[in-house]
Amino acid sequence: MNSHKENIKIDRRKFINYLLGILSVPAILWWLYVGRRNERIWGGKERIFVGKELPNGVNFIGTAILVNKDQKARAYDAKCTHLGCQIKKLEGDVMVCQCHGSRFDLNGKPTKGPAMKSLRELTISKDNSGNYLISK
Ligand code: FES
Repeated sequence: MNSHKENIKIDRRKFINYLLGILSVPAILWWLYVGRRNERIWGGKERIFVGKELPNGVNFIGTAILVNKDQKARAYDAKCTHLGCQIKKLEGDVMVCQCHGSRFDLNGKPTKGPAMKSLRELTISKDNSGNYLISK
């Protein structure tokens, strides 16, 4: 009798683990697709979802900066080339790193240090549905 109860306990434990395993799948999918809506990682390469239209001006989208100005669109990694802070601030036509004050023009070139290197340029492409993506 006792061993029958133990079998039931083990079965309940297995069942609960099985249930938790099943419930974790939607949670992981939510994290991948909803929680990080703008940043999708496929095949080890990070792609940032922009949408059907490229917004005008300077846009901080996830970990990228999209500059769509003067009939020309280009994208840059928002990671500052000094020590890697994420650039999130725009002053006029200058992108400013708030960590140590480096400033970059809209072509990603530093106009004031301490950063010495240009921002890394990223590729803008379209997927099969006509959505723009920025590839890192
Ligand atoms: Fe951007 Fe230092 S990390 S200026």
